[in-house]
Amino acid sequence: MNNMDNTKQKILIVDDKAPNIYALKLILDKLDVEVIEALSGNEALFQALEHDFDLAIIDIQMPEMDGYELAQIMREEDNTKDIPIIFLSAIYSNDFHIFKGYSTGAVDFITKPYKSEILLSKVKVFLEIKKQKKDLQELVGELKKHKNHLQELVDQQAQELIQTEKLSAIGELSASITHELKQPLNSIQIIAQYLTREIDDNKFEKNEFSKLLKDISNQTLKMSHIMDHMMDFCRRTNTGNIQSVNINEAIKNPFIILGKKLLVQNIKVIMDLGSDLPNIQGYSIQLEQVFLNLILNAMHALSACNKKDKTIEIKTYSINNDSVIVEIKDNADGMTDDIKEKIFQSFFTTKETGQGTGLGLSISKRIIDNHNASIKVESEIGIGTTFAIVLKGG
Ligand SMILES: Nc1ncnc2c1ncn2[C@@H]1O[C@H](COP(=O)(O)OP(=O)(O)OP(=O)(O)O)[C@@H](O)[C@H]1O
Ligand SMILES: [Mg+2]
Repeated sequence: MNNMDNTKQKILIVDDKAPNIYALKLILDKLDVEVIEALSGNEALFQALEHDFDLAIIDIQMPEMDGYELAQIMREEDNTKDIPIIFLSAIYSNDFHIFKGYSTGAVDFITKPYKSEILLSKVKVFLEIKKQKKDLQELVGELKKHKNHLQELVDQQAQELIQTEKLSAIGELSASITHELKQPLNSIQIIAQYLTREIDDNKFEKNEFSKLLKDISNQTLKMSHIMDHMMDFCRRTNTGNIQSVNINEAIKNPFIILGKKLLVQNIKVIMDLGSDLPNIQGYSIQLEQVFLNLILNAMHALSACNKKDKTIEIKTYSINNDSVIVEIKDNADGMTDDIKEKIFQSFFTTKETGQGTGLGLSISKRIIDNHNASIKVESEIGIGTTFAIVLKGG
């Protein structure tokens, strides 16, 4: 074991003749390096297991394993493949190309007898290159660490954005929820008033009362269903376990809240939901959020257009019982290619300030990516827009 300064660069010299090694060491003494010697190829390989070399100076003519054979093995081993090599040869020969590793890394040749200055200057160049390479690798390592950290931050921010967009969708929905809740509340109130009057007047029709009370019960169930769904939607589900999602259910859910709003705007919804679709592994609330964003976008586009028959068509089907495709198609005014190119960018919106955050589609895209799924859009001016999502079943 060596106890030398391990910040020094290390040079391995391999020569079967001790006087040659001695001479080399004398020359290399002028540099601030650690020199390790080996009298054979095998010893060199052994030393390479112990040390991290920055350069190897190898004599070509050695018994047993010659310099080329040693270099060949070094190029094949992970811990030695990047070590620059200077070959020393007693006779000048042009057979250097027989070393197959010639093209794979820093290699140089010096014929003996050599001038110490020439050897030294070559050694210095190789050591400098090796040092710079090491620095660069360290830098790359640092950069990778930063990149991972940044990725974590981006993921975290993205989750926050998903939550923010969810809140903005909730804001948008609150008006229609109020509307949805008002209707059953009104009928409950009317029934209750009627029943009170009947009781006051001592009129008591058992069958009629029973039917009206059942009505009240049904209306409260409907309200509780709407509120349950809303609670479900508001819950943070990012960290939850992956679920088996029935896509037909997930696409129906946004309509529980949006149904009335679409009706009021004279928008007809045509559902063509495939039977026997395979379930999807994913997060139902996130997928619902995507469908909700797409349906809201279609609804906004339709309410801004002048067509008489406004429709949103929802279609689900499966290919080979393997993937599930969801298509959301509207017959609004469509978009130009220019707009189409940008719709998945965060904060891109054509809506007036305060009307849209421009996050709906970028977050939807992110959710779709996280599900290893894809989203595509086709749009034609004056005809309408279709979004298609392809999810893998499993
Ligand atoms: N079905 C559609 N028909 C026409 N244009 C659309 C349609 N869907 C999306 N767009 C265009 O894409 C833009 C970006 O949509 P995105 O859902 O990302 O944001 P937004 O709807 O403007 O705002 P929000 O964040 O509230 O959803 C919209 O402003 C609109 O110009
Ligand atoms: Mg939107």
